[in-house]
Amino acid sequence: MCTYGKIWMIKYPEKDDMDDIHNLEVCCFKQPWSKAMLEENFSLDNYFFVAATVDGYYVAYMMYMVIAGEVTLNRICVLPQYRRMGIAEALIKLLPDNMDATLEVDVNNIGAIRLYQKNRFTIEGKRKGYYGCNRDGYILWRRYEK
Ligand SMILES: CC(C)(COP(=O)(O)OP(=O)(O)OC[C@H]1O[C@@H](n2cnc3c(N)ncnc32)[C@H](O)[C@@H]1OP(=O)(O)O)[C@@H](O)C(=O)NCCC(=O)NCCS
Repeated sequence: MCTYGKIWMIKYPEKDDMDDIHNLEVCCFKQPWSKAMLEENFSLDNYFFVAATVDGYYVAYMMYMVIAGEVTLNRICVLPQYRRMGIAEALIKLLPDNMDATLEVDVNNIGAIRLYQKNRFTIEGKRKGYYGCNRDGYILWRRYEK
């Protein structure tokens, strides 16, 4: 796919790519997941990783799990210089759409909230202090319509 002259591609990471995925965590999150956590989740059958690359380099990824017929989006991030090109939206469109999906997001993360709402997630609850002192989290759901 191509936006603003940058060609990016969807890629399904492999175990050996966890250094690259960890680099995305470090560049995108204040509290990145450790490489060990990523590797542990990658080894589980119900965790899924989907990424995007530019010129072979990882620029974005998402991780989700499927438990009891529900999808939970655990992580999604895009390197700052590749944002607002539709990459996160393209990743979200690859979530399974035949079951309910849920996620948590910091109430102050307006960009991410807009992204989710644009992709049919709606706010259904709030967790006080979920992200630390005075940082609440919204719980969003996208309900599967049979
Ligand atoms: C949130 C994040 C994943 C969005 O990635 P992205 O590739 O820039 O998002 P997209 O380009 O696919 O945006 C799709 C839509 O989301 C919304 N959106 C995304 N970023 C936004 C922002 N900063 N402000 C407002 N709306 C935003 C817009 O509706 C956008 O559509 P539009 O460009 O047509 O207006 C990225 O900013 C990021 O990695 N943030 C840091 C990590 C993070 O917070 N992850 C989410 C944790 S819950």
